[in-house]
Amino acid sequence: MKFLITGARGQLGKEWTQFFKSKGIAFEAFGSAQMDITNWENVKERVELCRPDVIVNCAAYTNVDEAEEREGTAFSVNEKGVENLVKICLEKGIKLVHFSTDYVFSGRAEDEKLFPRGYKEESETDPINTYGKSKRAGEVTLMKSQVDFLLIRVSWLCGPFGNNFVKTMLRLTENRSELSVVDDQKGSPSFTFDVVEKTFELLNKGKSGVYHISSNGKISWADFAEEIFNQSNIEINLNRIPSSEFPTKAKRPAFSLLSTQKLEQEGLKVLAWKDGLSVLLEKLNSSS
Ligand SMILES: NC(=O)c1ccc[n+]([C@@H]2O[C@H](COP(=O)([O-])OP(=O)(O)OC[C@H]3O[C@@H](n4cnc5c(N)ncnc54)[C@H](OP(=O)(O)O)[C@@H]3O)[C@@H](O)[C@H]2O)c1
Repeated sequence: MKFLITGARGQLGKEWTQFFKSKGIAFEAFGSAQMDITNWENVKERVELCRPDVIVNCAAYTNVDEAEEREGTAFSVNEKGVENLVKICLEKGIKLVHFSTDYVFSGRAEDEKLFPRGYKEESETDPINTYGKSKRAGEVTLMKSQVDFLLIRVSWLCGPFGNNFVKTMLRLTENRSELSVVDDQKGSPSFTFDVVEKTFELLNKGKSGVYHISSNGKISWADFAEEIFNQSNIEINLNRIPSSEFPTKAKRPAFSLLSTQKLEQEGLKVLAWKDGLSVLLEKLNSSS
């Protein structure tokens, strides 16, 4: 079994690269400069040379705020790019693993009561920002096709590679005694190492379709920040603020918890969010 990773220089792409290396699994990994998923000729050429059994698509346009002004680029990567991958996978009989986001849901605060354990895989989608809309368009392209796919939705993705909330919090504390973090957006972090492990187990079980992979628990960004500081023994004044005091170009969902019940029914238990954070902080400490 051979794998091809796209978007290999991103946080999830790097996690997959490390995973395959550590397991001695055959793979090739390409960054955007070597394999631009929006370029059909480039996609076709790479896939024909690599001849993978599975493509793991970690390529995405992920800048949520910038997407509001670069709608064309967001859709080009997150929809058209997926279309190209679907086409080549159909042509060559390749399985496609694709990642999407909690931001495909509307995330209205009222949904917290309707979905106490989080949105389910089949819950209605209704994204409120351009990034979410472009990711949903990619999902629809995939789901409408005849390709054999695994579509994994993750939320608040963080891991040892690339940029994420945990690293930002740690960096900001270096020269501040006070930090303000929003307390009215609730969800749960997905840890890259857990996402890769669980996705691989789903593949080994021969599963296809849509799955949510996130950690266990429902928290706000402020709760997350507080635990990062606790576990890192950092003393800082944390101000819990409403989103209205931290305006961003793109609207953010107030509630975007993903239910992982379907995953658990497969016998796959996700990490509790505090445990996932401990593992991540250990990884960050041992690499610094
Ligand atoms: N980050 C989050 O908080 C989050 C939350 C929910 C879901 N997700 C989803 O999880 C997946 C992985 O996200 P991530 O955090 O690993 O993203 P990331 O760190 O931003 O990496 C995305 C990678 O995609 C590459 N890319 C962009 N345009 C491309 C193109 N046209 N062709 C090929 N590669 C291209 C980028 O390469 P360059 O840098 O070279 O442009 C980048 O290395 C994505 O599907 C994302 O939507 C992420």
